[in-house]
Order: sequence, then C-alpha cells, then structure tokens
Amino acid sequence: MTKTPRKIIIDTDPGQDDAVALLLALASPEDVTVLGITAVAGNVPLPLTERNARIVCELAGQPGMRVFAGCDRPLRRKLVTAEHVHGTTGLDGPQLADPVMPLQDQHAVDFLIETLRAEPAGTVTLCPLGPLTNIATAFQRAPDIIPRVQEIVLMGGAYFEVGNITPAAEFNIYVDPEAADIVFKSGVPLVVMPLDVTHKALTTKARIAAFRAMGSEPGRMVAEWTDFFERFDMQKYGSEGAPLHDPCVIAWLIRPELFSGRHINVEIETQSELTLGMTVADWWGVTERKPNALFIGDLDAEGFYALLAERIARL
Ligand code: BDR
Ligand code: CA
Repeated sequence: MTKTPRKIIIDTDPGQDDAVALLLALASPEDVTVLGITAVAGNVPLPLTERNARIVCELAGQPGMRVFAGCDRPLRRKLVTAEHVHGTTGLDGPQLADPVMPLQDQHAVDFLIETLRAEPAGTVTLCPLGPLTNIATAFQRAPDIIPRVQEIVLMGGAYFEVGNITPAAEFNIYVDPEAADIVFKSGVPLVVMPLDVTHKALTTKARIAAFRAMGSEPGRMVAEWTDFFERFDMQKYGSEGAPLHDPCVIAWLIRPELFSGRHINVEIETQSELTLGMTVADWWGVTERKPNALFIGDLDAEGFYALLAERIARL
C-alpha cells in the first residue's frame, strides 16, 4: 500500500541541526509534503534564521519552497541566542553565499493561520525546531486553528538530561517559556523530542565521513556543519560527537519505529527564576495530571543515521 505523505509546516531557527532536519524533510517527498517553512528568532536573530532557511532550500535544490519570517522576539522576554554553539551566522562551518530565492512577504504567523484554515481539519502537522513563539502567537490570535492541527512534533525540553542552556532548561523551551506553555496546554496531540533522546543521536567520525563521502554539495555541507557544531558538545559533555537534535523530529515522521517513549503529562515552568523553562515531565506517573504528550526517551541511533545518509544522498 502506498503511503500518503503527511502535510507539514516546519517552524525553525537554523542552526546547523535545523538545517539537517530541513534537508531530511526536503529529500523525503514520499513521506512529507512541506507546505512552507516559517522562521523564528532563536539560535540567532530572525534576519539570519530566515536567510539560513533559504540557503538550505537552495542547497536542497528547492528554490521554489516558500520561506516566511515570523516573530523576532519571544512573547514576553528578551531574546536569548546561541551563537556560542552555532557561530555568529547560525550556520558557521562552510562558506555560504547569500541566497537568491526570495523571502515571502506574508508574516509566518499569518501563513500558519491561513494554511490551517484552508487545509482540511486534522491534515496539517506542525514541526517546531526552535522556540515556540510563532506557533503560540498563531494560537493566541486565531484559537479556531488549534483543533485543526493534526499533531505537533517538536524538538524541545529535557527531563533526565535536565538542561543545556541553564541547569534546568533546554534552549528552545527556555527562550520562550510562555509560548511553550501555550502550546503544551493547547490540547493538540504532541510528540516531544527532548534532550533525553537527542543526546543519543550523536555524530561519530564514521557517520560524518559517510556524509562527506557522498561527494555532493549537501553531503559536504552536512559534514562541515556537524564538524563545526561538534566541538561545543564534545568539550561540554566529553561525548564522542554532537547531537543532531532537530532531525529527530523529521525522522519520527518518516520512521516512528526508530523511537520509543511514554505518553505522559508535561508542564512548563514559567515562574521560577531558578528553573524557568523546565519541562516538568511526569515520566513515572506520580501525579493525576492528564497526559498531553508522547515524550520520547530513546532511539535506534544506527537506524537514524542510516535514514539520514540514505535521504541526504538523494539531494
Ligand atoms: C535545540 O536548540 C538549538 O540550539 C538546536 O537547534 C535545537 O533546536 C537544542 O537544545
Ligand atoms: Ca533548532
């Protein structure tokens, strides 16, 4: 039986790992139809994230893909960025020319609202790979779209791994905890890729070499991006390589059997200065709080990297 590709909107703040996620999606038309890419401020400011998204579309040979710029700051807080991880451009590593393809005039939030109203209810999946500002803004402005979302599959949060930007919080959730709170309370079915799983999706020398050996521009870029991105996590965690966080979201849509997790309650801390942005995950079921998310804890890393290599080699 042939599978119908899932319609998705990727909301992103590229970021080398976001870039790999975008390539994976754009290389997988039998699994996902990318309706558009919405950029948000996160790893770097918005003018860079929207530019980087366009660079990646061109690299994937899809200059006709629509890229929209969204919110340039969190709902209530000052923007926190992560140049210390991703470099000043967000895509540091290889030399990259400015993109030629245009940015869409429409605001990303308007595109999200319009698309969710235009497509049949329950047929569009949102894939946030950065802070949740665009999604929460769309939900606040147009609550009628909330029940129309099929699912949200997002990278964010941590439980056993705790934090990467503070001792308690993961970057995407920490940057805009109020937005995350809106999304986690929205009632939309959630699949969450926290650090608990992404820290198991580590690059290795052999995995990076496989990308380089493709001999293609996308293969070389992925190798150079991961080379760059790696140094930070290797120093920080003493790990063999770097976690490719965001591609876990797209890999889930293509091969969910690579992942395992628990359907549990997850709440966002928005008050405490000490633990702001923490994803309080009831992994052990010690409360009566209603499950709102499939919280992923493990993956088959070999299968994940085999999928990435197979798909990136197509570009
Ligand atoms: C997340 O933060 C960003 O640095 C990455 O792109 C990923 O989305 C990991 O905490
Ligand atoms: Ca990201």
